[in-house]
Amino acid sequence: MKPIRIEINGRAIDSAVEPRQSLADFVREELLLTGTHLGCEHGVCGACTVLIDGAPARSCIAYPVALDGARITTIEGLADDPVMARLRAAFTREHGLQCGFCTPGMLVMARDIVLRRPGLDDEAIRHELAGNLCRCTGYTGIIRAIRSVAAERAGEAPVVTRGCAVAPPVQVSPLTLPVTPSRIAAVAPAPVIDAAPLAAVDVRPEPLRNPVELVEEFDVPAPREKVWALFQDPARVIACLPGARLAAPSDGRSINAEMVVKLGPMQAAFGGTGIIVPDPENWSGTIHGRGIDTRSASRVQARLSYRLGKVADGAGTRVGVEVAYVLQGPLAQMSRGAIARDLAARLTAAFAANLDAALKGEAPASASAPLDAGSLLLAMIKGWLKRLFGRLSG
Ligand code: FES
Ligand code: FES
Repeated sequence: MKPIRIEINGRAIDSAVEPRQSLADFVREELLLTGTHLGCEHGVCGACTVLIDGAPARSCIAYPVALDGARITTIEGLADDPVMARLRAAFTREHGLQCGFCTPGMLVMARDIVLRRPGLDDEAIRHELAGNLCRCTGYTGIIRAIRSVAAERAGEAPVVTRGCAVAPPVQVSPLTLPVTPSRIAAVAPAPVIDAAPLAAVDVRPEPLRNPVELVEEFDVPAPREKVWALFQDPARVIACLPGARLAAPSDGRSINAEMVVKLGPMQAAFGGTGIIVPDPENWSGTIHGRGIDTRSASRVQARLSYRLGKVADGAGTRVGVEVAYVLQGPLAQMSRGAIARDLAARLTAAFAANLDAALKGEAPASASAPLDAGSLLLAMIKGWLKRLFGRLSG
């Protein structure tokens, strides 16, 4: 059991939690906040949606053990919220519910949508709501209800709700990363979805608004000069990223790339472009990029900075990576919190292993398979259980 302190609906809660306990189980069973419903319990249906630090998230795949210090709002905590009051009335008026099982998650997500995008149209609402499933209504009444509240707010300023302040960025050393390249290589290749026309994406560097930020660090057993040379070759760097490939030859300063990511039954194929800004004097560089997954209409804007330092008297290199990204659209719910950080840590582990192989002149082990967030989540849960049972057995 790990002691945590979190704020739930404005109340500070001190508790001790087991690593495997989901946030949904915690609020329902420990706090009796049963307005949060559980449907699929693996992050697909959206019935369990709550706000974590103001942004919608699936509480069935969020874990209190990783949310120490976070601010959680469940449907009960929005009882007096004025936008929620308008949505409740609109759902009733427009017949936006029948059995009501999906409704708490729908309402939490709908509130986020109308706050962020006042005045949006039906098509945009359907895209935004793609992560919330309803078995009864056929969605028509739900869309009408959300549209009516969004239309009422058409003249109002959008509210940014997608900040990520769940926890400070994690520092992960290679010793704490349990994923081996072979585990990721075992993921079955998925069919590639057509990516967006690459030339259409504007890559001018610009500040990211409320990005999710991640910091990772790993060592590779090769001198810094050798690692630097590899980092100057975009084709070799992209080849080390699971599920990624160059869509067109690079001139060394710009890249056109595609990356396939799987999350349970969902698959996204981001196509995008980036520019590389090296800083040889400081053994560092930055890549600015943008991409779009046309199937889900999700967009990502990202900045990746790296810095190479010497370790082991120059025989090895410490690679520090800072990633900042903003994901918009239906996949945005999957992009934050503990899952995203764990995913980033495991992606970094796979990248480090592939980089190591590439520096030895070997083929990267896991580059051809898409990054499977679902299997990585499973691996994460297995790791927690293993550690828990290890402790219980002394
Ligand atoms: S119960 Fe959490 S997404 Fe379905
Ligand atoms: S109203 Fe029954 S599942 Fe949506």
